[in-house]
Amino acid sequence: MHSVMAQQPPDVEEDECLPEYRHLFCPDLLQHGCHIVIASRSLPRVSLAAEKLVAATGKQCLPLSMDVRVPAAVMAAVDQALKEFGKIDILINCAAGNFLCPASVLSFNAFKTVVDIDTIGTFNVSRVVYEKFFRDHGGVIVNITATLSFRGQVMQVHAGAAKAAVDAMTRHLAVEWGPQNIRVNSLAPGPISGTEGFRRLGGPQASWRMKTPLSPGQRLGNKTEIAHSVLYLASPLASYVSGILLVVDGGNWMTLPNDIKKLMDFESSSAKL
Ligand code: HXC
Repeated sequence: MHSVMAQQPPDVEEDECLPEYRHLFCPDLLQHGCHIVIASRSLPRVSLAAEKLVAATGKQCLPLSMDVRVPAAVMAAVDQALKEFGKIDILINCAAGNFLCPASVLSFNAFKTVVDIDTIGTFNVSRVVYEKFFRDHGGVIVNITATLSFRGQVMQVHAGAAKAAVDAMTRHLAVEWGPQNIRVNSLAPGPISGTEGFRRLGGPQASWRMKTPLSPGQRLGNKTEIAHSVLYLASPLASYVSGILLVVDGGNWMTLPNDIKKLMDFESSSAKL
């Protein structure tokens, strides 16, 4: 028998929206819901996602093309968002590059690319949003990071180092921008089903079936669970929460296999997609 307190909320496959949603938090938690801006290097991808979000929520969604590594592109995107909606209340930094690769064969440029996207990208967007809106109006930043550096996960030196730096950035900015009424927090998801990250990093499904019983929760997480936790951090429920790292992984990081010999088969499955 499972207690309702650890029950998994509904989810959908891949990049779809839930067909119906029963609110766990009150529906007006963010006052009147949120209009959304989503940005990615690939405009067709975010445009498709925007269509689905508009259909599912009835809110507006502006898709934008932006590479977080290019400050001029970030400035133009933030300008466009402000032109469209007049304000920004919440910034979710979730751009990330990753793949499994042993440090010994990781190219110099591969390490740099992941740090550029994850760490420098997070700084670029945070700084531009601060300058153009948060400094004068306050706001909330949620940085999506990872637990990889906690135990020094094998084949993840690039992503672990990049995300650990983001967690440090979270604390620095929480302290420095707190007086401007800005809260900054990190959220570190575990392995989440139906995501790009899991497709790239999860390895063959069979291996996961063998691995998940080793995790405390005996299962993968789902996207709705991450959404609920981000919503908590972004909302007034967390009004006195700043500078923290919220781990949302069912306790997974403590027991995840971390033996390079056993995990070598994953490497081949994470070849460039
Ligand atoms: C080794 C790789 C590689 C791979 C790319 N590179 N893929 N090295 N294994 N699988 C190397 C390239 O050879 C090149 O180095 C350098 O990285 C840059 O590659 P490019 O393709 O030129 O760069 P770019 O297109 O800018 O970005 C590539 C990318 C990106 C970083 C791989 O496409 C990407 O990661 N996309 C995935 C996005 C994603 O899934 N994000 C979610 C992550 S989830 P050389 O030396 O050849 O020039 C996550 C959660 C972790 O991180 C927690 C889980 C529990």
